[in-house]
Amino acid sequence: MELLEAMQKRKCVRQFNGEIPGKDEIEAILEAACLAPAVFTTKGVHISVITDKKLLGDLDAAAVRKFGKTLESMGVTNTLYDAPVYILFSGRLVEELPPGYEFLKPENMHRNVYWAMGSVLQNMQLRATSLGVSSCLVNTVVVTLFDEPELAKRAGIPQGYSPLCSMVLGKSDFKYERRAPKKEHYQISYI
Ligand SMILES: Cc1cc2nc3c(=O)[nH]c(=O)nc-3n(C[C@H](O)[C@H](O)[C@H](O)COP(=O)(O)O)c2cc1C
Repeated sequence: MELLEAMQKRKCVRQFNGEIPGKDEIEAILEAACLAPAVFTTKGVHISVITDKKLLGDLDAAAVRKFGKTLESMGVTNTLYDAPVYILFSGRLVEELPPGYEFLKPENMHRNVYWAMGSVLQNMQLRATSLGVSSCLVNTVVVTLFDEPELAKRAGIPQGYSPLCSMVLGKSDFKYERRAPKKEHYQISYI
C-alpha cells in the first residue's frame, strides 16, 4: 500500500473480530514505531506489548470506573474494545532539567516527549493499516494508570516512568475506504 493510501484509509477502529494479529505483524508495527523521529528525551521509552487477557480486562475495568459517566454519554461501554493486543508506551517525564537546559521549564521537556510519541503512534497506525491490522489510539487507560500504581506495575511500566500513550491492535471486518482530509480542523496562513 502506498503511503498516501495508508494515510487516507487510516482510521481508529473499535470493533475487533477476535482474530489475533501475527507476531510478524506486531513486530512490523513496532519497527514502524522505531522509525519515528527520536530525540534524547525519549531515549529509554518502554513499550509494553500486552496480550494477557486478565490484565487487559483489569486495565479496561479501571478505565471504565474512572471514565464511567463520560463513556456512558458517548454510548461506549469499554475502553480497550476487546482488542487482543494493547501497546502501552511509558517514559521518564523529568522533574528537574538536565545540565545545560536550565533555561527551559520541565513542561517543555514533557511536550517534547509527547510530540515524539505522536509521530510514533502515527507511524504505527499507518503500518498497521497497510498490513490489514486495525487499531485505535487509547488515552483513557493512560490517564487511569497515573492513579493506579499497582496496575501500572503489572502493565510493565518501569519504576519512575509515567504512562505516555497507547493503542490497541487487532483484526476487524471493518471496510477501509479512502477518506478526504479534514481541512476544516485547520487554519493555514501562508506568510
Ligand atoms: C490524543 C488522542 C487520544 C485519543 N484517545 C482515544 C481514546 O481514549 N479512546 C478512543 O476510543 N479513541 C481515542 N482517540 C481516537 C480519536 O477518537 C479519533 O482519532 C478521532 O475520533 C478521529 O477518528 P480517526 O482517527 O478514525 O480519524 C484518541 C485520539 C487522539 C489523537
